[in-house]
Amino acid sequence: EAVEYGLDAPFEVEFHETIGSTNDRARELAGEGAEDVVVLADEQTGGRGRLDREWSSPSGGVWASLVLRPSLPPARVSLLTLAAAVAVTDAAREAGVAAAIKWPNDVLVSDREESNEPSSARSADDSAERGGRKLAGILTEMEGESNRVSWVVLGVGVNANVPAEALHEGATSLQDEFGAVDRRRFVQRVLERFDELRESPDDVVPAWKERSATLGQRVRVETPGGAVVGEAVDVTDVGALVVQTDTGGREVVHAGDCEHLRP
Ligand code: BTN
Repeated sequence: EAVEYGLDAPFEVEFHETIGSTNDRARELAGEGAEDVVVLADEQTGGRGRLDREWSSPSGGVWASLVLRPSLPPARVSLLTLAAAVAVTDAAREAGVAAAIKWPNDVLVSDREESNEPSSARSADDSAERGGRKLAGILTEMEGESNRVSWVVLGVGVNANVPAEALHEGATSLQDEFGAVDRRRFVQRVLERFDELRESPDDVVPAWKERSATLGQRVRVETPGGAVVGEAVDVTDVGALVVQTDTGGREVVHAGDCEHLRP
């Protein structure tokens, strides 16, 4: 049952206590012609992640799907996903968590900076171990022709007020990193920031780079064409990762699963 969530944001809100997947509901709305609607749920029973994975979505999270009808050319639609990652990172930082983006769009707890939590609360070992854990992920789905996008559904999953032990391995939550957040305010900040960025698409990649946990790291990217190993040196104007490989060449990776390797 959808109820009013009452956000002051440039999106119409449809809220569900529990739902299969907000992305599925958003796709339905998109098919009916909706635009600038955000479907929110407290809990998902069939949350979906990238690469056909399951996404643990217990009660207390921010499980959100935005229905968009962008006027961007298809090749630049990936900017919306990057913009969402920037928006979530900024909202997490404002909530007190040192967050950074792992290519392409995972929001991690940064292992380079300390979070705002008093350092006495955490030993150095503890922080090294926690760094790199995943706070949020994004699943983008779209429909359209090669020259025109009809709709985009941006599924944003933020482990907000949920205990990390209820999540997949390698995941953490805002609650565990800093304490429970006001989800309404958090969502509002994400939507406002996202709205700002989509208005100025040329700012998205620079903003993404500034928040990147991946650039400068040794990485291993699993791509449909095989593994690419080397140093992540840049991202292109559509967000593809440029890897300086150990064999001396440069590879541009558009999609794949990226792992940060220890130097
Ligand atoms: C990832 O694999 O990192 C992407 C996870 C995306 C999860 C979100 S939660 C809201 C929306 N509904 C879903 O079923 N998935 C996305």
